Amino acid sequence: MIGLGSYLPPRIVTNEDLVRQMDTSDEWIVQRTGITERRWVEGVTSTSDLAVEASRQALDSAGLAPEDLDMIFLATITPDHFFPGSAVFLQTKLGLAGIPAIDVRQQCTGFIYALSMADQYIRTGSAEKILVVGSEVHSKGLDVSTRGRDVTVLFGDGAAGVILEATNVTNPDLDSHLFSTHLYTDGAFAKELWVPAVSTAYDEEIIDQRMLDRGDQYAQMNGRQVFVNAVKRMPEAVETALEHNGYKIDDVDLFVFHQANLRINEAVAHRLGVPDNKVFNTIEKYANTTAATIPIGLDEAVKAGKLEPGMLVASAAFGSGFTWGSALLRW
Ligand code: ACO
Repeated sequence: MIGLGSYLPPRIVTNEDLVRQMDTSDEWIVQRTGITERRWVEGVTSTSDLAVEASRQALDSAGLAPEDLDMIFLATITPDHFFPGSAVFLQTKLGLAGIPAIDVRQQCTGFIYALSMADQYIRTGSAEKILVVGSEVHSKGLDVSTRGRDVTVLFGDGAAGVILEATNVTNPDLDSHLFSTHLYTDGAFAKELWVPAVSTAYDEEIIDQRMLDRGDQYAQMNGRQVFVNAVKRMPEAVETALEHNGYKIDDVDLFVFHQANLRINEAVAHRLGVPDNKVFNTIEKYANTTAATIPIGLDEAVKAGKLEPGMLVASAAFGSGFTWGSALLRW
C-alpha cells in the first residue's frame, strides 16, 4: 500500500442532535454502541464526491497522478444512482477515462472484498497500481423518526482509500505487502440486514408508494442476529489469516477492524485474547461508515502515530449479506 487518504464531511451530528429528532438518548447510544457523534453530508454531496476527495489524498500521499492508475475499485452500498455504478462517476471526477472502474457491493466487508480483488489483478500481473476506495453517504437513506432509531443512530458518512502497487517481497517479516485475504458469504442471512427497495423482486415497479409507506427504502436490521454472528465470524477470519501465513495472535502489532459497534469489537478482541491497546477504533466519532471504516482506521492510525512501517496489521469485517472476511498485511 503506497498511498492512503480519507475524507470525512465537516458536519458533525452528535447524539444530542439525534435526540431532538427521535426518541433516543445519548446514554442508550453510547452504552449500546460506543458512538458519540458521526459526520453527515450536506446538500448535493454524493458518495463519489466523498470518494474523489479521499482518492486525491491517497494519490498525493503516494506521489502519483490519477493517470498513473491502472484500475479503480469503489466499495459502497450507498451508490450515487441505481446504475451505473459509482466507480464510473469517481473515475470521471478524477479526470480519467478508459481504465476499468468497478463497484464492489459487499456492504461492511466491501473494502476487504475490493482489496482482495485488486490483489488478484496485481498478483497475476494484469495491473500494477490500483486505487481501492470505500465511500458511503448513509445519511440520505436514514429514517430520522423514532421508527428508524435502531438503525439510524449507527451510521455515518465518509470515505477513505488506498493505492496498491505491485512489489517484490524478499523478507515477509520486513517488507510492506498484503499477505492474504480470506472472504466469506452466507446468503441465508440476507434479510437480517437489508434495504428491501428499490427492488426488482416485487410485483411491478421497482419503487412504488406502498414500499415508501412501509419504509422499505430504509435499512432493516435484526441487530441481535448481526451482533451474535459478527463476534463469531470476525475472530474466525482473523485466526484463519494468521494460520495461513504462519503467524500467531501475539505477532500482530495492530488490529484495524470494521467499525459497526464498539461492543462487537471489544467482544472480538476478548475472544482473540487481544489487549485493548492493540485495537484501533474510530467508531466513537465517525460511527459506521460501512465500506469506509477500515481505510479510515488505517489513515487515522497513521496520523495518531499508532501505525508505523513494518508493523503486522490484521483486519476483519462482518456485515450485511452476511458477508465477512479478513486481511493480513505488513504496513
Ligand atoms: N434509542 C433508544 N432505544 C432504542 C434505540 C435507540 N436508538 N434503538 C432501539 N431501541 C430500543 C428498542 O426499541 C428495544 O426496546 P424494547 O426492548 O422496549 O423493545 C431496545 O432498545 C433494544 O434493546 P436491546 O435489544 O437490548 O439492544 P441491543 O443491546 O441488542 O443493542 C444494537 C441494539 C445496538 C442495534 C445491537 O444489537 C447491535 O449493535 N447489533 C449489531 C448492529 C450492527 O453491527 N450493524 C452493522 C450493520 S452495518 C452493515 O452491514 C451495512
